[in-house]
Amino acid sequence: MVIAIDGPAGAGKSSVAKALAERLDFTYLDSGAMYRCVALACLERGLDPEDATLTGELAETLEIVPGPGPVLLDGIDVSGEIRTERVTEAASRVSIHPEVRQVMVQAQRELIDTGRYVAEGRDIGTVVSPDSPLKVFLTASPEVRAERRALEAGEEAESVRRSIDQRDERDSSREHGRLEVAPDAVELDTSELGIDEVVERIAGLAAERGIT
Ligand code: DC
Repeated sequence: MVIAIDGPAGAGKSSVAKALAERLDFTYLDSGAMYRCVALACLERGLDPEDATLTGELAETLEIVPGPGPVLLDGIDVSGEIRTERVTEAASRVSIHPEVRQVMVQAQRELIDTGRYVAEGRDIGTVVSPDSPLKVFLTASPEVRAERRALEAGEEAESVRRSIDQRDERDSSREHGRLEVAPDAVELDTSELGIDEVVERIAGLAAERGIT
């Protein structure tokens, strides 16, 4: 069973999903970390992230453990390396391919079947688990999202804004697993809200729906 937290980069998904999982004693699943692992493996092997067939075949051979705890790629802790700008950029490219998405979605469904999860991503409520009992779509203004990411990365808000815009465009325009709001999702704009407040609201919805 899964509570789905979807939305664009910088909307606060990670902080909210982690805190919510802790509060409800659920397991946190970072689906983006899995796409990042495929991207890292692709770069390490000198493959072109744009190559759908090769990246799809590669994805099938990888052993990815997205947590809890460190992110493991074929048994190696890659928690830090998958957050670098070059992996972020490549992840945005490999995640376009249906060949890659199919492998990731299957792995995520298998994990979710084993317990109670809070999963964050782009397509958890629409593709991975359309029957999730609680789907939340987090948003925030482009300015706030860029500021948050810039703060995390120690970079200039303006250049972060440009790269976020490009990744948003790829996430929203791809054919498979595109970033879209599930019809039954609750939308929350986090621009003016603190993490605690957002977590409080979602925990309230979970209680109302008899999930907790
Ligand atoms: O959430 P994130 O920035 O760690 O995600 C990394 C990349 O993976 C990003 O380009 C979007 C993609 N992604 C995806 O396509 N589907 C998901 N469920 C999660 C992430």
